[in-house]
Amino acid sequence: MEHRPKTVSPCSIPHRVAGPPPNRTPWNRHAKLFHAVPSQTPPGRRPHPPYAIRRSAFRIARPRWRMAPARAIFPAMSDRIPDPQKPASGAEGNWFGFTPVDPSAKSGLVRAVFDSVATNYDLMNDLMSGGIHRLWKDTLMEMVAPKPDMTLLDVAGGTGDIAFRFLKKGGGAAVVCDITEAMVRVGRDRAVDRNILSGVQWTVGDAERLPIAPRSVDAYTIAFGLRNVTRIDEAIREAHRVLKPGGKFYCLEFSHVVLPVLRELYDVYSFQVLPFMGRVVAKDEASYRYLAESIRRFPQQADLARRIEAAGFGAVRVRNLSGGIAAIHSGWRI
Ligand SMILES: C[S@@+](CC[C@H](N)C(=O)[O-])C[C@H]1O[C@@H](n2cnc3c(N)ncnc32)[C@H](O)[C@@H]1O
Repeated sequence: MEHRPKTVSPCSIPHRVAGPPPNRTPWNRHAKLFHAVPSQTPPGRRPHPPYAIRRSAFRIARPRWRMAPARAIFPAMSDRIPDPQKPASGAEGNWFGFTPVDPSAKSGLVRAVFDSVATNYDLMNDLMSGGIHRLWKDTLMEMVAPKPDMTLLDVAGGTGDIAFRFLKKGGGAAVVCDITEAMVRVGRDRAVDRNILSGVQWTVGDAERLPIAPRSVDAYTIAFGLRNVTRIDEAIREAHRVLKPGGKFYCLEFSHVVLPVLRELYDVYSFQVLPFMGRVVAKDEASYRYLAESIRRFPQQADLARRIEAAGFGAVRVRNLSGGIAAIHSGWRI
């Protein structure tokens, strides 16, 4: 049976009368906060009961404001809200989204997700992001600045979006490496449909143990892949191993929103709209719930930058995209 860690709702604050309030329905699950009472002031501390009450009032109003319009459009949405608990830096392998797992099981679970979504992957990407993922990938490719004598390794390359852009912009050769065979197959078929019959090599392999020779590629990209990897630090060290000295590492990944207003809307979107769309369009709610959960589990921008530096990269930079919904981390292999 699936075990999920207890979700700590932002509403489960201590200032309330014990016992469930009467007539609670999913629509007024925040109603328990109407039972807010002033906090007890510990001896020696300045009393601030009005603050405690104001905070509670704010917490009643905010979720209702957030949920109402979305519910009007998507009445069948679930009630789950983000779990604020974060894994310790380096412990991401113990989590599959918000579900604690044995690290040895994680990559199998991730493969099952991408096996399941492979055929709908590109359609869902466009639907979910309103096409914005294309702009983010274009930005990544501007940073890579392909040249005819460059070799790119695109890890977690899936259906080939990054490799195709690299070739289109004048890059020499691309190797796509992905752990899910179904994604690679879709990518290969797309290449044939686009008449890209040479220039891309398709490989099935794990970002943590790349089937690639040391110091053999000029650029390493991983787009929306690092979040799914069990041992992120191991994958970054592998990137360092396969890059030539002077080569460059790029990670495009969903990240952490830096604008508070956007964060609220994004939470509703991720935890309510995305799973709903997954259910209706791809007939696979769980995979799209995993997407939202895994994004929240991914390290903050600064933490990831530190870990890239720790793997031996120099001049590590972070570029936030769309207010931090995504970010590109880059660093030189020295
Ligand atoms: C969200 S898709 C991204 C695909 C593509 N890069 C893109 O931007 O459209 C994530 C990909 O990461 C791959 N992946 C997950 N864990 C991996 C690992 N440990 N090693 C290599 N690929 C992995 C999945 O199979 C999947 O194709």
